[in-house]
Order: sequence, then structure tokens, then C-alpha cells
Amino acid sequence: MEIKKTFTLVMCMASLVHVCYSGLCELAEDTVATQSSTLEDASAERAIDGNDVNIYNMGSCTQTSAEHQPWWMVDLGRSQIVHHVVVTNRGDCCEKRLDGAVVTVGDTADHLANPQCGNQVDFEKQSYDSKIKFLCDENQVGRYVGVYLKDRHGPLTLCEVEVYGGKKVGGCLLWTNWMNNNDKSGNVDNETISASLATYPDTMCENPTGIEARTVGSRIPAESSNQVFAEYNLEEGFLCRSADQAQGQNCFDYEVRYCCAGGGNNAVVIAEKVSHSEAVGKCESKGMSMYKVHDKTSLAHALSTINQSGIAANNFWIDGTFGKNRRINFNEGTHASLEDMKPLFHRGEPNGSGDCLHFWYRSGSGLSLDDGDCDVNQYYLCMH
Ligand SMILES: *[C@@H]1O[C@H](CO)[C@@H](O)[C@H](O)[C@H]1NC(C)=O
Ligand SMILES: *[C@@H]1O[C@H](CO)[C@@H](O)[C@H](O)[C@H]1NC(C)=O
Ligand SMILES: *[C@@H]1O[C@H](CO)[C@@H](O)[C@H](O)[C@H]1NC(C)=O
Repeated sequence: MEIKKTFTLVMCMASLVHVCYSGLCELAEDTVATQSSTLEDASAERAIDGNDVNIYNMGSCTQTSAEHQPWWMVDLGRSQIVHHVVVTNRGDCCEKRLDGAVVTVGDTADHLANPQCGNQVDFEKQSYDSKIKFLCDENQVGRYVGVYLKDRHGPLTLCEVEVYGGKKVGGCLLWTNWMNNNDKSGNVDNETISASLATYPDTMCENPTGIEARTVGSRIPAESSNQVFAEYNLEEGFLCRSADQAQGQNCFDYEVRYCCAGGGNNAVVIAEKVSHSEAVGKCESKGMSMYKVHDKTSLAHALSTINQSGIAANNFWIDGTFGKNRRINFNEGTHASLEDMKPLFHRGEPNGSGDCLHFWYRSGSGLSLDDGDCDVNQYYLCMH
């Protein structure tokens, strides 16, 4: 049987060594820490001084006054993937003062509004080592990492906060989670772009710029599994047919992840101010469609594109109009519920100020969605 290898190695794969993502780089270096109040000289910086001694009197722990929901926050300087956060608790006494602590990671300086990373500390349910690890969602990004005592009163003391995460690797800022479409027929393992879009509509993007496949469980990279693939490229995605394998062998079960942000430039900022309906037509006349956002990944991609464009504006039209029950309708005929999209909106939005969707961008608080008056002229994003 002729062995035909038809997969294409793409740029992202050539540099698959996720030096920082799986090796994990520590992020918080040139960073600024603040806290809700400071007791004597127990400043916020002490949690990022590189010294994790957990004896309060040794002068390396923070402390706020006893107050309602005391908090501590670090500004990493730029938005990046945060994989996990390690908090060193005070060890000489009063460990349980940290009960109820929550870690947040996100792009708003108002860190209490950012998504939670890991679980809330709960001393009733479990005991903790001095170092407590908070594992973030895969692909969680943020510029601000916060710690606060949720719904609790007391002083907050942190002896060290270490933030670990990924830097932009191999041109990819955001990989999707590993996705596994299971076809029970056993004849094919269909992890194509279309199959992933159908099974993981909230995660998958239409125009990925990188692809990685590996076996489920044993995590052997597809390139090393000695199997033959009908597709392994960015046009179709990944497809393994048992019929193509050496005699008697079926395809292994593979999982795939795609690079959905930062690996390419399929979002385009147009520096021309038009109404929302004109923007739809203008994207089409350029052979593109209006930029569509449906998850944090596409939001992050748009943010890097807007940032690179250097346009100092804070509103950009994108695809989407509000319909009945504030449902969001896309140009191609699909729609999303406001409930699903709500986490992408700016706080307090949509507030009824218009029927068209735009990006609301502010340096320091990132990019979010907002509703706007369709007739207003503003810049817009297309995609291809
Ligand atoms: C946007 O670009 C500026 C200037 O290069 C940089 O300081 C800032 O961190 C960038 N923001 C994001 C979210 O990438
Ligand atoms: C893979 O799945 C997609 C989406 O369900 C489908 O359109 C396509 O025909 C499938 N391909 C094969 C070879 O089964
Ligand atoms: C909605 O919020 C925008 C800011 O995004 C503000 O300018 C506008 O006045 C608000 N509209 C209403 C109806 O509250």
C-alpha cells in the first residue's frame, strides 16, 4: 500500500514548542500592584517582590485594613494568556483569613468584574497548603489579575502572588481548547473545520490560522503517530480515514485545536467612517464580510488587529443587529441570543442606545461589545 502523507505543516506547527505555554513562563515582572487599603507598611508590592516567605514579621506579606471585600490587584501591562495563579498564604498564623478568596483574570481594570480563575477558597470544604493554586480556564486572557475576599469582611494578606501563562507562541495568541468530534462509525475521525464549527460553535472560528492534532489520552502529536491523514491543513482541518491506514488498523482517536487569534490577520480595520448598513456593503464590495464576533477568541483577535491599526478611536462597527427580544442577527442569516453574548458586552450594556452592534474599545479596559445607533458614522472591521 502506498503511504501518502497529505498533511501540510503550517507555520504554527513548525514552532510547536510551547516554551511558555506548557513550560509556563512567569508573567508578573514589570508590573504594578495595588490594593484596597494598606496596613502600615504592608504594601501591595510585597506580593510580587519575588520573596515568598510566609511569616508576616519578615516583611514580605501584604495586608489591607479589616474591611468589606478587601482586594489586591496586579496590572501585567498588557493582555495575555494566564494559565494559573499561585497565591502564597500567610503561614505564621490566621491562614483562614483567606477563606472566601477569589482570583479574577481579565481585561478590565475594575477587576471585580473580570472572570474568575479557578475556585473560591473554601476552608470548610478542604484544607490548603501554604501555596494555593488557581487554575484558569484554558485560553483565559487578561491584563489584570485580582484577588479579593468575596462577600467577606476582614484583612487580606498575601505573601506572594505568582502569575503563570503563555506568551504569544509561533504567531498564535489564542489556541482553542482541544476539541474531539467523535464519529462512532469508526471509519473516519472527522476533526475538520466544519465538524468543529458544528460541534463547538462557541469555541471554533471560521478561519483558523494554525492547527495541531494529537491522539486522545496518550497525546502523541499526529505527526508522530505513523498514520496517514486525508486532511491536515488549514483549508479543511483534520481528517483521518481508517481505509488509508496500514492493513487492519483503524484511525486512532485524535483531538485537534486550532489557532483562532493572532496567528494571521483575517480581521481588517477600515479607516473610513460610515453607517452600519453602509459598512456591510463596503466589506462586501472589498470581497470580504463584516467582522463577526461570537466568543472571547474572536474578540481578542479583533483587539490585536485594532491595536495594530493604530487608529485611536473607540467604536468600530461589526456584524450584528438587534432583533426581537434583543436577539442578535448576523448578516449571513444566523443569530445568537443576548444571553450567550452577554459576557462579551461592556458592563451595563446593551442599554438600548441603538440596534447595531459595535466594538467599544478603551485603552486599559480592552475591547467589549456595545449597542449603538445604526445611523452614526464610524470605523468598521471586515474579515476575510
Ligand atoms: C496596544 O498597543 C499599545 C502600543 O503598542 C500597547 O502598549 C498595548 O499594550 C496594546 N494593547 C493590547 C491590548 O494589546
Ligand atoms: C465531517 O463533518 C462535516 C460536518 O459534520 C461534514 O460536513 C463532512 O462531510 C464530514 N466529512 C467526512 C469525510 O465525513
Ligand atoms: C447607553 O450607554 C451609552 C454609552 O455606551 C450612553 O452614551 C447612552 O446615553 C446610554 N443610553 C441610554 C439609553 O441609557
